[in-house]
Amino acid sequence: MSESPTKARQKRRKFQAIRGTRDLLPNETALWNRVEQTAHAVFNVFGFGEIRLPIFEPNELFARAVGDDTDIVGKEMYRIADFLELVRNLFVGKTRYPSSDAEASLATEIKMLLQILVNEAHRALATQELDTSGENPSRIKELSDLLRYADEKWPAFSPVVDDPEWQEFVSKAGKAAEGIAIESLSLRPEATASVCRAYIEHNLQQLPQPVKLYYMGPMFRRERPQKGRYRQFYQIGAEVLGGSDAPAIDAEVIQMLMAFFNKINLAGTTLVINSIGHSADNCRRTYVETLRAALQAVKSKLGPDSQRRIDTNPLRVLDSKLESEQSIIETLPRISDHLCDDCRANYAAVKSELQLRGVIYKENWRLVRGLDYYMRTTFEITAQGLGSQNAVCGGGRYDGLVELLGGPPTKGIGFAIGEDRLILSLQEGGQAAGASADAPVAGRSAPLVYIAWMGERAYATAVRAATDLRNAGFGVELPPVAQKFVKALGQADKLGAKYALILGDNEVAEGSWTLKTLADGTQTKLPEPALIEHLRKSAG
Ligand code: HAM
Repeated sequence: MSESPTKARQKRRKFQAIRGTRDLLPNETALWNRVEQTAHAVFNVFGFGEIRLPIFEPNELFARAVGDDTDIVGKEMYRIADFLELVRNLFVGKTRYPSSDAEASLATEIKMLLQILVNEAHRALATQELDTSGENPSRIKELSDLLRYADEKWPAFSPVVDDPEWQEFVSKAGKAAEGIAIESLSLRPEATASVCRAYIEHNLQQLPQPVKLYYMGPMFRRERPQKGRYRQFYQIGAEVLGGSDAPAIDAEVIQMLMAFFNKINLAGTTLVINSIGHSADNCRRTYVETLRAALQAVKSKLGPDSQRRIDTNPLRVLDSKLESEQSIIETLPRISDHLCDDCRANYAAVKSELQLRGVIYKENWRLVRGLDYYMRTTFEITAQGLGSQNAVCGGGRYDGLVELLGGPPTKGIGFAIGEDRLILSLQEGGQAAGASADAPVAGRSAPLVYIAWMGERAYATAVRAATDLRNAGFGVELPPVAQKFVKALGQADKLGAKYALILGDNEVAEGSWTLKTLADGTQTKLPEPALIEHLRKSAG
């Protein structure tokens, strides 16, 4: 039988990375590794330890921490479409039809959905995707029993209109299905919420405080991709949890960040700071109300996004990049004029602590950040060469977040660097030495030694030599099949090798090796045991 045109087309399909995701090839990962190693080194000297976190968590964690009304949670989260949840919701929906509509086709559909639901629920129980400690097992058993009962009682397409037993069955099954507790999951859009969850889960408040943690890894947001904005992007972040909220901590976190940028030679950075007051005191709440009133007065001049935010989150209007709104925003009341005495003193202290550490900053009263958990200090760092997506790092203080997630009252401050943007900026600024697109063979480091071997006996010796040299820490390229010497030397040159180790029948018979320095063509004969010592000396 010939293949259908659709099948044939599918087979020819070339797969590509999903829009907004990317492959990082060795010519780039060299720089990524350098950046990450520098982060490990700098963060360690500031007393931070690494934490590795799961990539998915309950929706609820992010909704509560980052905020339901934020763009990140409201629009950009990758919710994992859970089949069990879909079937359950569909089933419950069908069971709510008025009974007089329960024609044979609907009855069949209900039974079919119940069958799928029961199968899927049993699978999820077995894998413990469903919580097995509560009422889930008994609800699922009830559904199985109901399904068996319905199969026996209404075996085929029997019309069930007005059958009271059918109605009772539907109502019971609907209720049992509704009662299954299903945890909806999302790919993480950020990691601060997860760090706080881990702090609570592992009782880290019992360790000496504060606990200083850092992380690196992929985050996921459903955004329209553009330069510096991806759907899977990478962050390097750090959080300080517990202990005091002394302004020196805010300043030290920022100092560490700037020390890191300095160490990797990130040019053209600007640190912008602000204080957005305290939500528990009245200063932030009063300011938000003052701002809302001022925004209402100019509502007709604002775009639809800002108009909506007057109700949902007026502070976010200050973030707007819309050209037509800029002059209006400049006339709005400023948080700095509304801080309470404590917050004002705290902000002044943070600034003087920064000065003490020689950290240069600018202030921007419009820096409010797009996540709900912040209070008091907020900051962002921009870098050059990034176009409109020029924020390479964002952070701030979030006292109270741990408590909001069910933990003890805990102070917190941290930041996350957008690693993709950081790398872009380094590349644009010419700081990506050794990692350019034309780096030898897609960026892998050039081998020190290329083994040019010919003949079967030479091959066994070549394999042994490669093993010994690699064990001694030298980079070796061993061609898998014999090559003519001219070709082998050409290949060694292309790969940027420093030496060619020539092994032909003569060398094997003599028990010595010919080591050719490719830059000047000089050759030395060496007995095998002397090779490693010789390379050590000459490679420095
Ligand atoms: P954020 O401002 O949402 O903060 O993200 C931090 C950084 O991640 C941004 O400045 C940007 O460099 C990068 N970033 C965000 N979205 C994307 C994207 N779609 N593509 C590429 N890069 C992106 C947070 O995530 C907070 N958790 C930071 C924090 C930690 N605050 C306290 N502790």
